[in-house]
Amino acid sequence: MLRPLPLLLLLLLAVVFLSSTIRLGGAHEHDEEEDESSCEQSPDVRVDAEFRPGIVTVDGRAEDWADVAGPQLALLPALDFDEDKAYGGGPMTVKALHDGRNIFFMLQVEGEYAYSTGDDYKCPSVALMFQVGENATYQNMGGCSNLPGTCTEKSCRGHEVDIMHFSIGNAIPGRLYGGNVVDNRKGNGNDSFGHLVDVYAWNPHCRYLDGIGPSGHISNAQNDWKGAWWHSSLISGSSFIEEDSPFGKRGQKGTYSFEFSRPLRTMDRLQQDVQFTIGQSSKVAVAFWYPTDGNPWSKSQHYSASCNWLTLEAASVSGPSVSRVSSSGSWDAVTAFALLLSVVSFCLTVFIGYWVSKTKAVPFTPIDHL
Ligand SMILES: *[C@@H]1O[C@H](CO)[C@@H](O)[C@H](O)[C@H]1NC(C)=O
Ligand SMILES: *[C@@H]1O[C@H](CO)[C@@H](O)[C@H](O)[C@H]1NC(C)=O
Repeated sequence: MLRPLPLLLLLLLAVVFLSSTIRLGGAHEHDEEEDESSCEQSPDVRVDAEFRPGIVTVDGRAEDWADVAGPQLALLPALDFDEDKAYGGGPMTVKALHDGRNIFFMLQVEGEYAYSTGDDYKCPSVALMFQVGENATYQNMGGCSNLPGTCTEKSCRGHEVDIMHFSIGNAIPGRLYGGNVVDNRKGNGNDSFGHLVDVYAWNPHCRYLDGIGPSGHISNAQNDWKGAWWHSSLISGSSFIEEDSPFGKRGQKGTYSFEFSRPLRTMDRLQQDVQFTIGQSSKVAVAFWYPTDGNPWSKSQHYSASCNWLTLEAASVSGPSVSRVSSSGSWDAVTAFALLLSVVSFCLTVFIGYWVSKTKAVPFTPIDHL
């Protein structure tokens, strides 16, 4: 009658031990994510670019991003973080991934369809900003204190930020804009077709296309970005041409999506491009402009998806980030199950050994006797 008791006790102990290990693991993971964010609006938010090759096409469409996770960020006025004045369409979802060569971004935000052919200021617009110089702040686009017209590579050294700005007034939905042979031959970050430009800045007054400086052309730079846009109210599967503009019905409810890609590394020689490294993190900020009630937006009246830099990490395949970001849950479950099995079999062994040693009724029978 008393025999099963030790086994039960051991099993119980094993379960208690296991659950405490799992909880410890969880607490540890949380600690890792809690570092350094100084953004008051969104303290824990980070953008993780997992290694997910071959799942997205840069066409502006968000369907192929459905099972990629990304934070939802409140869009507050960039120059006045008043929650009451947040963008009326709600937060923006920011997703990223990489395929080992390129990094990809997907920005999704709800908004009634607004498009005014050829007028960028009457269309929504997005920008990504990255820290390049180690002393570049989110505030004031790098934060170099030089006055307009007096910034130089030397005086603003360390304050470089890299900016990608997409204005869609001349861009057909679903088509690719950004770097192209015509503009890249001129050696700068311009995009004369769709206005998806590659820019760098030291502060808001000292902002230039890559390859162009305060005194003109300085280096053979390139526009290293590609990107496309879409709105969910547009007829799915349409292949638009230029004369279909404005492509959709004004005021239709739906979600805008903006999709981008860039090589992880570029040929930049002047701190005008952020350089991504797999397994390392970068600093990113996201901005959004929207022509409220059809009125053109002005450059200083824009929304920011963060009040400071957000951490962006290009995860490596086997690194801790990947397991933490995507598969830590299932890995934990498998480990826990394996551990439980081994503890159970160990208990069984001990119990059987104990049972056999207690049961003296079975005598040793030499085999030749049979
Ligand atoms: C950044 O600032 C620190 C402290 O002011 C300074 O020592 C360092 O040289 C700066 N970095 C660059 C690249 O200028
Ligand atoms: C960039 O392209 C736009 C559109 O074609 C053009 O108006 C502008 O002058 C160009 N800028 C430079 C610096 O080439």
